Amino acid sequence: MANSRKKMKILHTKKSVSALSRSWHRAGETVALVPTMGCLHAGHLSLVALARKKASRVIVSIFVNPTQFGPNEDFARYPRTEKADLKLLREAGADAAFLPTPAEMYGPEGEATVSLSESRLSRTMCGEFRPGHFAGVMQVCLKLFNIAMPDIAVFGEKDAQQLAVLRRMVRDLDVPVKLVGAPLVREADGLALSSRNRYLSAADRERALSLSRALADAEAAWRAGETRPGPVLAKLRRAVSRAADSLDYAVAVDKDTLEPVRSLGPGTLVALAARFGSTRLIDNRIFR
Ligand code: PAF
Repeated sequence: MANSRKKMKILHTKKSVSALSRSWHRAGETVALVPTMGCLHAGHLSLVALARKKASRVIVSIFVNPTQFGPNEDFARYPRTEKADLKLLREAGADAAFLPTPAEMYGPEGEATVSLSESRLSRTMCGEFRPGHFAGVMQVCLKLFNIAMPDIAVFGEKDAQQLAVLRRMVRDLDVPVKLVGAPLVREADGLALSSRNRYLSAADRERALSLSRALADAEAAWRAGETRPGPVLAKLRRAVSRAADSLDYAVAVDKDTLEPVRSLGPGTLVALAARFGSTRLIDNRIFR
């Protein structure tokens, strides 16, 4: 495969990424983009593996995007592990890594003047607790799509709302990229992989297992024949509220429209966000 023959390119400028993508397209290759904020773990590597199956060239971006963090959020302390990330990406067979600075992405003023407005899709769930977050995500992803010109872009279903918002953006703005969702990856004990797990103390990590357990119970109830969201969500909220410091939300919605479902069924997304100490975690299950 072309992937293993070549050394991974490390790029810092938008221009160099666009030129590389153009040269690959001219040579008849297909290009996949995997946008990340670094601090890579097995979940990210599963996105790279899927991208490698779907395209002949894979670009991974590593950029902790300031515009998607609120003023009291963890932008400054978000873990930056560039050296380890690049090693993992080389081993995973990525063809190029794109590591821009904020000035490279947003210009010397550091603030783009044009932004995408939010809709109900991005104001609900996490959007209610992180106002402006998805506007920042859409902004940076649209920029990355314009820079890297990928045929496909791979995102984790762990961030199910992010994927729904981006799918809608791509559709509404006719962005010429196909979005591919990759299944959520869990630790052996069920904890959903997240770069933010490293903030958890051992005791908080133990309490955080309540998320995956409550979601597994919700799915088991549905498989056993319960289709009413009310009782299933009530049980889930009770279980998580007992373990967490606070529960931001727990919902049963359609995975694409994010509208609450009247009846649990295939395509239902049961999603939640809860806080353990100063760490906010999200988790979900998509019923299939
Ligand atoms: O999911 C993430 O890590 C980020 O939101 C993304 C998609 C890389 C945009 O900054």
